[in-house]
Amino acid sequence: MIELTFVGADGARKTVTAPEGTSVMQAARDHDIEAIRAECGGAMACATCHCYVDDADAGKVGTACEDERDMLDFAETELRETSRLSCQIRLTPALNGLTVHLPDAQI
Ligand code: FES
Repeated sequence: MIELTFVGADGARKTVTAPEGTSVMQAARDHDIEAIRAECGGAMACATCHCYVDDADAGKVGTACEDERDMLDFAETELRETSRLSCQIRLTPALNGLTVHLPDAQI
């Protein structure tokens, strides 16, 4: 199992575990993280799974591919350098301890 922590826009932290290979989006849905709406279910077609990778983990997670960057342009919430679609981040042992910050709200 991979451990990751979601940090809400209000600073509230929730640490959860998810099986290796799970996306960050699926882990969020499995643990009732409401800020990750994920309307398209992970098809990279909605941008309502937008999140911010913690600066300390950004190097491990890597950057978005061109298609992901294009979809991020449709995010309702502020884009930052560490913006990612959480459905496109697969949990691997290297990401154990990952911290992901959540936008305020995703419509
Ligand atoms: S869940 Fe729709 S783009 Fe990630």
